[in-house]
Amino acid sequence: MPDEATTQETYPPPPDLARDAVAQPELYARADADRLAFWADQARTLLDWETDFTQTLDWDRAPFARWFVGGRLNVAHNCVDRHVEAGNGDRVAIHWEGEPGDRRTITYADLARDVRRCANALEGLGVKAGDRVALYLPMIPEAVVAMLACARIGAPHSVVFGGFSADALRNRVDDAEAVVVVTADGGYRRGAAAPLKASVDEALGDPARGGRSVRSVLVVRRTGQDVAWTEGRDVWWHDVVDGASEEHEAQAFDAEHPLYILYTSGTTGKPKGILHTSGGYLTGAAYTHRNVFDVRPETDVYWCAADIGWVTGHSYIVYGPLANGVTQVMYEGTPDTPTRERWWEVVERYGVTLLYTAPTTVRTFMKWGADLLSGHDLSSLRLLGSVGEPINPEAWGWYRRHVGSDRTPVVDTWWQTETGSIMISPLPGITTTKPGSAQRPLPGISAAVLDDTGAPVADGQAGYLVLTEPWPSMLRGIWGDDDRYVETYWSRFPGRYFAGDGARLDEDGDVWLLGRVDDVMNVSGHRLSTAEIESALVSHPSVAEAAVVGAADDTTGQAVCAFVILRADAARAVSGEGDEADAAALVKELRDHVAREISPIAKPRQVLVVAELPKTRSGKIMRRLLRDVAEGREAGDVTTLADSSVMGTIRAGLQGPA
Ligand code: WT7
Repeated sequence: MPDEATTQETYPPPPDLARDAVAQPELYARADADRLAFWADQARTLLDWETDFTQTLDWDRAPFARWFVGGRLNVAHNCVDRHVEAGNGDRVAIHWEGEPGDRRTITYADLARDVRRCANALEGLGVKAGDRVALYLPMIPEAVVAMLACARIGAPHSVVFGGFSADALRNRVDDAEAVVVVTADGGYRRGAAAPLKASVDEALGDPARGGRSVRSVLVVRRTGQDVAWTEGRDVWWHDVVDGASEEHEAQAFDAEHPLYILYTSGTTGKPKGILHTSGGYLTGAAYTHRNVFDVRPETDVYWCAADIGWVTGHSYIVYGPLANGVTQVMYEGTPDTPTRERWWEVVERYGVTLLYTAPTTVRTFMKWGADLLSGHDLSSLRLLGSVGEPINPEAWGWYRRHVGSDRTPVVDTWWQTETGSIMISPLPGITTTKPGSAQRPLPGISAAVLDDTGAPVADGQAGYLVLTEPWPSMLRGIWGDDDRYVETYWSRFPGRYFAGDGARLDEDGDVWLLGRVDDVMNVSGHRLSTAEIESALVSHPSVAEAAVVGAADDTTGQAVCAFVILRADAARAVSGEGDEADAAALVKELRDHVAREISPIAKPRQVLVVAELPKTRSGKIMRRLLRDVAEGREAGDVTTLADSSVMGTIRAGLQGPA
């Protein structure tokens, strides 16, 4: 919980910003007066429609929504071509910086040309509107180009984070039945060339395991590392895209045409393919980007330091900023390469004005110390954003003081893969900010905090965060699983969207997010499901049973802690005298196993070998008690345990020869 001293402080908008900001207080008034008319107006003002829509929202088949019914548009045209047609082709779209220090400057005209070539190349590979294309790429401009080329031809993309394993890639390719995978030989991370093509080969190599839908693999040469080649399947980007025609007619698609699928962790082991469509999603991304970041496309240099493998990269690197025609920075690597000053050099070099990052990154910079910033001119910065997890007031204050010179507003933006765009956030020219609070639903968004019975909680009380009205960028479903969509989001409180987050309202009606209320963890702003990691652990031959919890961690917010019961033979092997080395080796092997099965992000901070797990009489694992152990506390109420001595056994076991 935020401590008293810091929560008392509030920060009114700087007077000049209050006067000049894109979003003025009447935005709330207009949305409150007529929500649907407000959204219709945003859609028409922010986007170019080939055919205007005739109905703003069709909610007759709720919770299956159709927004901007009858409207037709091309998303890529809206993100690129129209800016060129408006005479802004020379404006820089992307200042790109590779981790090794290579740089590229890409104007809107360049981007338009590259997207058209890539669209032609994809069509040349037989991709048609409606076909799915998987993208497994580093943070290079080709990732943006490929996403927009897919959008241009109406082929929904499914971006798979480059840090995910071959298995995770295969599962996602199979679920979406992707026909093409776009990848690179590798990408740079922490000074090394990390392979990507090799993972694609592994994912697709054995038809018995999956990947059978894929006809072609389009490969960008990034690192120059050696790659295996499957003739007839693999093609180089420089062969088929660079040489493709620069002419490509953008066809308009229905507002509800699928734009992309993005997989995210839920409460079960199987990731959910979150489906977003065209007109509503782009309206939400453009509207929130413009108003929350107070974007002035002529002068701002915006930097969202996320990866395109996450929704933040989709909405706030690709679709929102490009729809708004802004100039942005894109950086390939990690903040510590070659030195821990890399970010501040980037801010200084390009004169970044708007910076958007995650609390875990801010806390990492805090740990490294403010001295690293002092040698750099950060005076261009005028607004800072935070996303991904609750930002503690200390980190909020440090961010404002040391990055923002105690001058810039900080906007803490709450949203999810499912919401498509920011739902709750201050507006920088209007809101008096409170460190640690995401504050108010944006104009056009309606939220509430409910108790178990579905009644609004009293001020100061904690409850469940819900969105009470549909919104344009809402997910349209879970790919291939309508029932799970209804069940996961719309059944806990019928008619309202259940976000899975706890929250409380303060006396001003401001929202304070309290973290997930389900079995979803948040590690460095990445969503991980306990069930997914548990199933990875039990897939290891030595593990009989596993329970995973998220334990508080100073840097990453939460850390993965796993409790495992070994199979008898494995347990015998590590329990004999003098076998500490064997036990340590097994723990390491299990941690690596999870990294390999899912992703290094999911690698447990700790694996604790235990003889038993605490369960209720109905057999449900009591994760709350395990969290107490993982966080070094006395275990809480154990009265509902089937066997109340289990916690004692666990503690005794852990104190033994670990
Ligand atoms: C979950 C969504 C939204 C893009 C990145 C994560 C948590 C996100 C905040 C915030 C408190 C936050 C929530 C949410 N979360 N932003 N500003 N304050 N919590 O997207 O992977 O879909 O995760 O991230 O728990 O449910 P995601």
